[in-house]
Formats: sequence, structure tokens, C-alpha cells
Amino acid sequence: MIIRNCRIRGKEGLFDVVCENGIFQKITPHKSILEEAMEEENVFEAEGRMMMPPFVEPHIHLDCVLTAGIPHYNMSGTLFEGISTWHEYKTTQPLVVSEIKERAKEALRLMAEHGVQFVRTHVDVTETSFKGVEALLELKEEMKGTIEIQTIAFPQNGIMSLKNGKELMIRAMDMGIDCVGGIPHYEYTREYGLESLKFIFDLAEKYDACVDVHCDEIDDGQSRFLETLATMAWERGWGKRTVAAHTCAMGSYNDAYCSKLFRLLKDSEINFNSCPAASTHLQGRIDTFPKRRGITRIKELSEAGMNVALGQDSISDPWYPLGVGNLLRVLEMGVHVAQMTGYEDLRHCLDFISTNGAKNLCLDQEYGIEEGKDASFILLDGKNDMEVLRFLSPVVLSVHKGKTIVEKIPAKAKVLF
Ligand code: FE2
Repeated sequence: MIIRNCRIRGKEGLFDVVCENGIFQKITPHKSILEEAMEEENVFEAEGRMMMPPFVEPHIHLDCVLTAGIPHYNMSGTLFEGISTWHEYKTTQPLVVSEIKERAKEALRLMAEHGVQFVRTHVDVTETSFKGVEALLELKEEMKGTIEIQTIAFPQNGIMSLKNGKELMIRAMDMGIDCVGGIPHYEYTREYGLESLKFIFDLAEKYDACVDVHCDEIDDGQSRFLETLATMAWERGWGKRTVAAHTCAMGSYNDAYCSKLFRLLKDSEINFNSCPAASTHLQGRIDTFPKRRGITRIKELSEAGMNVALGQDSISDPWYPLGVGNLLRVLEMGVHVAQMTGYEDLRHCLDFISTNGAKNLCLDQEYGIEEGKDASFILLDGKNDMEVLRFLSPVVLSVHKGKTIVEKIPAKAKVLF
């Protein structure tokens, strides 16, 4: 396959890209390959559109997607009503592996349409039938070579706050879940939260797994599990394999504490994940006015050299009723609420849903537009980051390891004046 006449994000000029046997064979300036050497059926004319590595979804709950309204909608819009509604769902609805897989697959189709090829998903391990775990492990295998999935053992109702919380986490890891999750701010006490973090890192070391924790997802400026998470990652040399997700409380920390905290965060080398659409919807609900935005310090963390990736969290579930799998919409919300709308911010904004996510997922050889790497890429109907975000440009072609997984012809409006 040859992609003719494309831009490549981050490079000047136009290129022809040759993919063979699932890898990038040759990337050359446009027209340096003789036209007659190109067999027409293998050529995709890019017309100057931008090629880039695929989008990465670093944080979603595929076991919960597309369940909004069952048994009822989250009427208050709070995180805690979301958790209790999900609890009702999992204790009143028949949980069937094939049904969970079909919902999750439908969400993956939506994401694929919007350029996602790598997904890290949580799966609730406090749903004790483990049908969600079973479903997502099966789906992960079935989707290999089309969309790559990483799974996280997520203790929705806590680890220490459940009599058998530790056993459930161990059982999930034994079944083949990839990463260890947590929810320290939701545990009954601060002590339980701290104890859960030690358990999480012990488990990660035992299974040689990444850590990806829902951390301080609350508007409580006193919720400070992040400092312990980062310290443990630093002590154990686990920072590059650790993600602190949400860290909403950082939006409520005082500046003196935060400036002290940043030194540790940087030394720890941990990664961050923020879900600006979901968090702006869920947080600040108990405030009157001024109403907090409920998101972490995305701009400040990034400017201090730390890695922050943006994700969706939800697609039409008990926590968030909207979402169509389009990370550009999440990014649009993110740059607004974090005030990253300056020219320099917008010039590189797609990093948040691509390369930064790849770092969270510890992707390496399989990610990037370079000769010799896997031929995984998307072609966007735009020329640069700012244009793509402004127009929420569609993905016209998505290729994973040399295999085309999505083709799209963008709609053209006929404006009659
Ligand atoms: Fe989440």
C-alpha cells in the first residue's frame, strides 16, 4: 500500500509512504517514487491530508459503556450517584459475557471510526461474577491486530473497604488482567486509602504490571493520595509504568502545596490522565458559586514537563450520558477548561490524544511514523493540529499494522448562497 501526497505531522513538506508486510518500508518526499512503479489499486491519494500515529484512548470503562438509562439515568450527575447506579445495574441486570462484549465492541467501533487504535480499559473487579473480566479478556484477544486493548483491574467499590477486596484483585490478575488499578479516595478512611496503595504496588511488582489508579477524583482539596502514589512509584522505580488518573483534587489544592508537590511528581516520573468532558460534568456538583471545573492542572503539569494524556472515561454510561468515541471532542473540552487555547498550545494539541497516551500505555516499537515501525496510522481531513481540532476533522483512513480498519468519505455540504 502506498499513501501518496500526504503531510506527516511534525514534518515539513509532502510525502509518499510505502507500507509492506505491516510495517513502514519507505517514507520519501512526494514524487520521488516513480508514478509508473505505483500500481493504482494499491495507492491511496491523500491530497495533502495529514498522517499521524493513531489516537490512543488511555482511560475508558468498556464494561460499562452504553448502559445509560438502565435501570435509570443518573439524575444528579454526580460521581457518587454514578457509582450507585452502576451498582444497581450490576446487581439487577443479568450479566452475560456476550452482551458485555457486544456493547464494548460497539464502543470500539465508534472509537475506531474516530481514529483510535490503542485502548486502555478498566474493568470492575468488585462485580463478583467476573463476567466483565471474562468478556474484556476475550474481546482483547479477538481484537488483536485490529485494535490493541490493555485491561486494568479496577476495584470500583474499594479494596480495603470490601471484606474480600484483595482477593478479587488477585483473582483478576491471575486471570490475565494487564494493569493494577485502585480508588484510594473512595475507601472508607484515609488509612484504608494508603494501605490500598501499598497493596497496589506490591501486586504490580508481583505480576510485573503497570499501575493505573483513579486518584483523588473528588473536589476535596484534602484528598492527597497523589503524593503517596508518586512517592511509592519513586521508591520502587515504577514511575514510567504508573498513571495517576483524574487527580481532580489538584484543581482545589492551594498553590503553596502544589508547588511543593510538583517537585515530587517530576522526580517520580509518573504519568497523568485527565478526562475533561466527564470530570467537568461530574465534579463541582456540590459547589454553589463559584463552581469549580473539577479537572487537574493539565496545563501546569504539561508546562513542568510531565506527561498528561486525555481520555473519555465513559461513553453513555451511568457517569456520563454523552460521548461518541471521538477524542477530538474530549480534547476540545480539555483545551477550553484548562485554558490551553494559546497559539503554541494549539499547535501541538493533538499530543494529548496521541503520543502522550502512547506513553501512558508504555507503547514503543509499535507506535510512530518511522521506517521499520508498525504501519499503524490515521489520515485526518486537515493539515495541522489547529485545523483538525477546529473542524473536528474526520479520519478518512485508519490503518493498523498495514490493515485498513476504517475508510471514510467526509460529507460535503452544499451551501446555497
Ligand atoms: Fe474512570
